[in-house]
Amino acid sequence: MTTSFEALKNREESLLCRTYGRYPISVQRAEGSRMWDHEGREYIDLLSGIAVTSLGHCHPELAEVMARQARKLVHVSNLFYQEEQLDLAEKLLSTLHCTKAFFCNSGAEANEAAIKLARRYMQRVRGVDAHEVVTLTGAFHGRTLATVAATGQERFQDGFAPMPAGFRQAEWGDIDALRAAITPATAGVLVEMVQGEGGVRPMTQDYARAVADLCREKGVLLMVDEIQTGLCRTGRFWAHQHYGVEPDIVTSAKALANGLPMGAMMTTDEVAQGFVAGSHATTFGAGALVSSVAAATLDIMKRDRLDERATAVGGRAMERFRAIGAKLPGTIEEVRGYGLMIGIVLTFSGKEVWKELVARGFVCNNTQEKVLRLVPALTIDEADLTAFADTLEDILARR
Ligand SMILES: Cc1ncc(COP(=O)(O)O)c(C=O)c1O
Repeated sequence: MTTSFEALKNREESLLCRTYGRYPISVQRAEGSRMWDHEGREYIDLLSGIAVTSLGHCHPELAEVMARQARKLVHVSNLFYQEEQLDLAEKLLSTLHCTKAFFCNSGAEANEAAIKLARRYMQRVRGVDAHEVVTLTGAFHGRTLATVAATGQERFQDGFAPMPAGFRQAEWGDIDALRAAITPATAGVLVEMVQGEGGVRPMTQDYARAVADLCREKGVLLMVDEIQTGLCRTGRFWAHQHYGVEPDIVTSAKALANGLPMGAMMTTDEVAQGFVAGSHATTFGAGALVSSVAAATLDIMKRDRLDERATAVGGRAMERFRAIGAKLPGTIEEVRGYGLMIGIVLTFSGKEVWKELVARGFVCNNTQEKVLRLVPALTIDEADLTAFADTLEDILARR
């Protein structure tokens, strides 16, 4: 028996808090870069659960790992030693300069851990009264109270006053503004190398290095939110590796367990001294099941060189989108991004184009009014990207 879209919508109205503005699609099943709704309609998925299912939906190797681990050990809590957690930590830390990890369950929680660690490291290890975290305009760091304060945008804070204290914001791209925002009370600067929700906005090489140099000069921590950009998405394992900077803290989530909830905060031995037993905790963090899936996800990313694939496939896709812009002047203002994190900036609101793309079976996202954001699976078939480009060209040509 199939369930109609209207029936699902009505059930949801009566059962769930209204926190989400949903797409007009009810997903019944998904595989690779394809999703099917309850009426059997097929969609090409260029959003991958908002940069989460980087290996594609329902990856068969991960399904095997899940089934095997589900019969062995799922959860016992962080009161116990678990080998799965350590295997994951080794694999994750081998991808960057950090040497210590803390695991949690989401991106917001990873950033919360980073903020708490920055404060505690300053206050208990360095012995200074520094607690403020400076972020940049256009940022998105999550929806808990502290991360919504860090995000600093009115539309995410509406009705939740008072915001937790200890956050300041500086204008993105303006190094003097950042310099002015850093005071003796600053513990760290939290940035995205490529702003995701902010419209796929990459830092320039010069700006990124200037931010890192300024943090060193002022003795504050450089904290990089790689929740969306990490794990091969931008063509390197981590986006900061494009810029030759070494953050004191890196946060991750989204693609880490390819769809199971997991977050991580990674740091150096020096900064990790800020936490002692009992400083911070989570019941679910890195249970055996999610850890084994995350470890297998990392193995597959490395084995299949998905960082290199993201660069090659994303590069060709961006070239094609730029060619569409050249062919149809006045439609595409800019194509930007790294790897398979792509923003197609239109010269007008993207809402209608987005709607038509969805109606024609292509799922992407419209952010910051004019930006079509693509964060497909890193395994996506290039023919799917070509089909998307052909459809986009057709829609833009007929405007
Ligand atoms: C850069 C960035 N940071 C933090 C978050 C919050 O992650 P989560 O929704 O898992 O809490 C997101 C989610 O979109 C994000 O893109």
